[in-house]
Amino acid sequence: MSPSRVCRTSLVWLLVAASSMVVQSTSVLSAPGQPSENDAPIGQFDIVGDSIVSAQQMFLGTLDKVYFVDKTERNPAQIAGHPAWAAEYSISSNSGRAMDVVTNSFCAGGSVLGNGTWLNVGGNQDITYGGLTAQTQNGGGPYDDPDGGKSETLEDGSVIIIGGCSWGGFVNDASQTNPTYEFFPPHNDPTPINSPLLNRTLPANLYPLTWLLPSGRIFMQANWGTAILDYKNQKEYQLPDVPDAVRTYPASAGTAMLPLTSANNWTATILMCGGSNINNWQTNWDIAAFPASDSCVTITPDVSENYEDDDPLPEGRSMGNLIMLPTGKIFCLNGAGTGVAGYGNDSWAIGQSYADNPVLKPVLYDPSAASGKRWSRDGLSPSTIPRMYHSSATLLPDGSLLVSGSNPNADYNVGQGIKYPTEYRVERFYPSYYNSRRPQPVGIPSSLLYGGAYFNISLTSDDLSADVHNVQNASVVVLRTGFSTHTMNMGQRMLVLESSYTGNGDNSAVLHVSQLPPSAAIFPPGPALVFVVVNGVPSVGVQVMVGSGKIETQAVKEAASLPQSKILTSSSGEGSKSAQSNGSDTGAGGQVSSAAMSRTMTFTGLWFDTMAPGILAAIFMLASL
Ligand SMILES: *[C@@H]1O[C@H](CO)[C@@H](O)[C@H](O)[C@H]1NC(C)=O
Ligand SMILES: *[C@@H]1O[C@H](CO)[C@@H](O)[C@H](O)[C@H]1NC(C)=O
Ligand SMILES: *[C@@H]1O[C@H](CO)[C@@H](O)[C@H](O)[C@H]1NC(C)=O
Ligand SMILES: *[C@@H]1O[C@H](CO)[C@@H](O)[C@H](O)[C@H]1NC(C)=O
Ligand SMILES: *[C@@H]1O[C@H](CO)[C@@H](O)[C@H](O)[C@H]1NC(C)=O
Ligand SMILES: *[C@@H]1O[C@H](CO)[C@@H](O)[C@H](O)[C@H]1NC(C)=O
Ligand SMILES: *[C@@H]1O[C@H](CO)[C@@H](O)[C@H](O)[C@H]1NC(C)=O
Repeated sequence: MSPSRVCRTSLVWLLVAASSMVVQSTSVLSAPGQPSENDAPIGQFDIVGDSIVSAQQMFLGTLDKVYFVDKTERNPAQIAGHPAWAAEYSISSNSGRAMDVVTNSFCAGGSVLGNGTWLNVGGNQDITYGGLTAQTQNGGGPYDDPDGGKSETLEDGSVIIIGGCSWGGFVNDASQTNPTYEFFPPHNDPTPINSPLLNRTLPANLYPLTWLLPSGRIFMQANWGTAILDYKNQKEYQLPDVPDAVRTYPASAGTAMLPLTSANNWTATILMCGGSNINNWQTNWDIAAFPASDSCVTITPDVSENYEDDDPLPEGRSMGNLIMLPTGKIFCLNGAGTGVAGYGNDSWAIGQSYADNPVLKPVLYDPSAASGKRWSRDGLSPSTIPRMYHSSATLLPDGSLLVSGSNPNADYNVGQGIKYPTEYRVERFYPSYYNSRRPQPVGIPSSLLYGGAYFNISLTSDDLSADVHNVQNASVVVLRTGFSTHTMNMGQRMLVLESSYTGNGDNSAVLHVSQLPPSAAIFPPGPALVFVVVNGVPSVGVQVMVGSGKIETQAVKEAASLPQSKILTSSSGEGSKSAQSNGSDTGAGGQVSSAAMSRTMTFTGLWFDTMAPGILAAIFMLASL
């Protein structure tokens, strides 16, 4: 067996919009303060720490903790008598600790459940040094990492687990493909269920690009194929092929759902940028020299079945991550100008990397800009670190980004002459707004519901730069950062809540803010960050629970109508009156206060015995409540 180079599943959030009446107790969060840094290098990457393991997978688990998950490999850091394959990293102290993962989490997927627990599912087989398949699949030396590969047999529930393969390899093949989907926690229906799209898109059908649409159906894209999956009725509909390039792994386009807003009627537009139009996935030619695609396309599947061309990237890019910023702009970073994801000991590979010519310069996409003007590099400096296969990135609560990983190697591989080594350096990137004084909104509730009563958020004169009219350019944003791996942030999604305002004569104002629109399919339940953005400057994000905090059918209510927007002047006699209740205001002192939502994360590496005898899944959970 060749080195296990690749991978399995894609996850997407599911939740069934419906009717049960759950009474929710909601408190008001302390006002966020200012970021701990106030002199950050704007528009630049800054190397801040060491990831302990290589960050093949990454997610923001609490306001201060990012989790890195690696594959089984010979990292020098040890835990429980073997090399570490996971780590917890503190954003505030730039330090971390190794964590124990029981099975080989190689090329797993992940997402956060509606109750706040993170799920990491899938993985690969028991291996030995150099990424080679071990003799036994029951644990034992050298890593004691029993087979996590055939972990597809979980049924029912809130996360759909799609596709994958049994043993890995650069691309999938008929002998090991798993063109099915299933659920976690399991549904009652017999699973796994066959997916015609995955069945017809070998060999590039791993990590299918998957989003839950506001209509409750699922959009799926793999290799050149596209489909809509109506999982509730186990039906799939074929859509036109994606133009210009393969977008799934190993071609690895950057993908994101554009912000959902009332202006776009909460319809989801998917953006795909880059990838590769390689059609020959045999490894007997120089894949690393093949130019990546610069093509960007969008599709709005609930409205039209057709892809539309969008502004191309400034250069071709494979493995360019698209990260949503609270401003609604999308930051593209990482990746390579030639080749694709994956690695192997091929004569033409760069070391073992199947990609070359790393693209170090980030670029920013503005979905609201006119066609032809959406990409910009104004004020952006390049990174100094190639981030190619097995790199990852996430937005942080303070609006900066955390970037790590890159390891186009079968095992831990560093030293002289290795062009693309195992990378442990952690970088932060600081967007243009980073050093600006942040709004300190008071009144953000600890949970958001689907419809029902609106709430008030107050902004001071300082928050509005002493001009009440700036409230006209204030918005309240709900953003889920997602689970970053393989050039996708699974579950990443952003929604702008509807709001109106009352401006006061003393230049303070109150935002009247709707709950989420009344459908859980528009923004599935689970933890998310909330930001108030004034004139393009976001507050420091606070963590809220979207929905009931339980894996269950979510209660949906009619949305209350918002008061009319108005600006009261001092001369009207009302301006200086405190006319609104803005809830508790315990955190207005300027410190980032996470007390109300601080979570104790306990890590429990665990064996999860599934329905099918003898089949074990690499599942670990972070209990976060
Ligand atoms: C969330 O649900 C999962 C699946 O049912 C369960 O294993 C986990 O313990 C739950 N987490 C919490 C915090 O209740
Ligand atoms: C690939 O090369 C690495 C580094 O030299 C080595 O450890 C590994 O065993 C090789 N794998 C195969 C399948 O030859
Ligand atoms: C999967 O593809 C094979 C080969 O193209 C075909 O024979 C088979 O009917 C397909 N199965 C399903 C369930 O679509
Ligand atoms: C908005 O979306 C809803 C549901 O998707 C649809 O019924 C309605 O017609 C749309 N309205 C407009 C103005 O597009
Ligand atoms: C809102 O703020 C953004 C970011 O600063 C700015 O580009 C835009 O012009 C502002 N819009 C209005 C209406 O002031
Ligand atoms: C908002 O809260 C602050 C602090 O508790 C208080 O001083 C202020 O009067 C409140 N504003 C309104 C409009 O109630
Ligand atoms: C929000 O503010 C409006 C007036 O600005 C007030 O009428 C309403 O009672 C407030 N609502 C809440 C929930 O505080």
